[in-house]
Amino acid sequence: MKRSKIIGVGSYVPPTIFTNHDLEKMMNTSDEWIVQRTGIKERRWVQDGESTSDLALHAANEAIKNAGISKEEIDMIIFATISPDHEFPGTGCFLQAKLNLPGIPAIDIRQQCSGFVYGLSIADSFIRTGQYKKILLIGAEVHSSGLNKTPEGRDISVLFGDGAGAVIVSECEVNDENKDPHIISTYLHADGSFAKELWICAPGTGVNKNNVRIDHSMLDQGLHFAYMNGKKVFTNAVKRMCEVTLKCLNNAKLKPNDVDLYLFHQANLRINEALAERLEIHPDKVFNTIHKYANTTAATIPIGMNDAVKAGKLKPGMLVGVAAFGSGFTWCSGLIRY
Ligand SMILES: CC(C)(COP(=O)(O)OP(=O)(O)OC[C@H]1O[C@@H](n2cnc3c(N)ncnc32)[C@H](O)[C@@H]1OP(=O)(O)O)[C@@H](O)C(=O)NCCC(=O)NCCS
Repeated sequence: MKRSKIIGVGSYVPPTIFTNHDLEKMMNTSDEWIVQRTGIKERRWVQDGESTSDLALHAANEAIKNAGISKEEIDMIIFATISPDHEFPGTGCFLQAKLNLPGIPAIDIRQQCSGFVYGLSIADSFIRTGQYKKILLIGAEVHSSGLNKTPEGRDISVLFGDGAGAVIVSECEVNDENKDPHIISTYLHADGSFAKELWICAPGTGVNKNNVRIDHSMLDQGLHFAYMNGKKVFTNAVKRMCEVTLKCLNNAKLKPNDVDLYLFHQANLRINEALAERLEIHPDKVFNTIHKYANTTAATIPIGMNDAVKAGKLKPGMLVGVAAFGSGFTWCSGLIRY
């Protein structure tokens, strides 16, 4: 059976750093509060009007270069984002035009912080069917232009950063399951009964009171900004990421410490510490980036993957565990022989 593997990784974060001290000047917060509660010290926010597809283009070009392929070999784009360039068409179409790859399919997916692992699962499935051979999978976000950077928005605005990460997922042969690089498995879940615990209400057809998707009163109420029930998100994130990681490992007949490196979603350092404790893995097995980028939603895992490669922590042949949790609620895991 055809299998897939990651042959190249790329990432990009905007150059301008906003430290917690910079945020103190905007929104009645403190470095101490943010570091203690989340582990975040700084994040990158775009300054020159770059769009999500602009960031994605940088990450895609690096992934293509690192994969050692020509961009013309890419036969599909999967783009995960919750901060699209425009309402429609999908941001994958804008990226496809910027890459000058007319004709190939461009699929946008949402799935919030779970977007990258959902995308990996979709890419793996398409390759297993033989329909596509080299898929560019992107997670990219520009959150900064959608944050309420006033004291009213401080509970959420301190948590999010901008960035993009990309991988090339390629068809491959697997002769030795224990050695040859391949995507071993992915597990995807959602529970929409929690949808309003972390969401943006407007614009949308679900808020259609006067036959409009957004009006001045909705803007005045701040319905276009994210709402989050932080404690509920926190407890469910720990529970579900632990559950879905164990499911992935059990089905592969592996123990948590058999994995060489975990690339967990980065929403809160305390979530990942609690997860490491429950899984009884050494904290060094978890590669964290939250202190420097905050939560970059769908971009988080591929950005972490590229940073881990550059730091020499992720090497060919390693067994990598990924897991994420996000709005929806959605949660997911995967095992990769890198
Ligand atoms: C958001 C989060 C960091 C808050 O931590 P917490 O421990 O639940 O917060 P606490 O209850 O200790 O603190 C809340 C207090 O801090 C205040 N506060 C909120 N944001 C603040 C900020 N940026 N700076 C200073 N104070 C803040 C609140 O107003 C509240 O004050 P009060 O007690 O006077 O009412 C935490 O709930 C969390 O990380 N949740 C999950 C977030 C997440 O994963 N989101 C993305 C999902 S993919």
